Amino acid sequence: MRINPSILSADFVNLQRDVERIGSADLVHVDVMENHFVPNLTFGPQMVGRLQAISPVPLDVHLMISEADRWAPGYAELGAFSVTFHAEAADDVVATARALRERGSRAGLAVKPGTPIEPYLELLGEFDQVLVMTVEPGFGGQSFMESTMPKLRAVRSAVAARGLDVWLQVDGGIALDTIGIAAEAGADTFVAGSAVYGRDDVEAAISELRAAAVAHSH
Ligand code: DX5
Ligand code: ZN
Repeated sequence: MRINPSILSADFVNLQRDVERIGSADLVHVDVMENHFVPNLTFGPQMVGRLQAISPVPLDVHLMISEADRWAPGYAELGAFSVTFHAEAADDVVATARALRERGSRAGLAVKPGTPIEPYLELLGEFDQVLVMTVEPGFGGQSFMESTMPKLRAVRSAVAARGLDVWLQVDGGIALDTIGIAAEAGADTFVAGSAVYGRDDVEAAISELRAAAVAHSH
């Protein structure tokens, strides 16, 4: 059970301070947005490179950008532990995943709530992580969409049936009252923005979320 706080909910003028507050997390979730794939803007490779240099935990980069085939490999070249791109934004998800792995990063495939997962199940061996979005991507603090849980179960059973080691991530609306639902449906990697950075004691938030996930795991 991995807990990856999202710095989308951190203080952008104190990012180093806020990243250093989450040393007990598994990874730090870094949301890259460019006002095209989603209607919000965060930061790009220059910031990700600096975060890579100062973070106490590995980087879990979530690209919410168009033309993923073109831009994703550059984030692997920065040394990010994991780079996840959206299926909706890529022309060739397999080629892009391979480009990430060749550059030493784990390769992640993300799907928005309305995107079916079935076309990608036969390609799971090409990926190290599948991210089932549990909100429409773009903003923190939205409500968890339980309607996405069947998709999570489908990935979990395909991964199990084929004996693969693919992490199953959820992102959006993950908090103490929802994390168990996602864990029960098969998630093992949980992004939490407002549920971590919205608390004064972020380390307590991380450990409480982890305990709640473990309590509902299979
Ligand atoms: C939303 C981002 C999330 C965001 C989640 O598009 O991908 O990573 O930070 O925020 P919360 O946990 O507040 O829903
Ligand atoms: Zn994200």
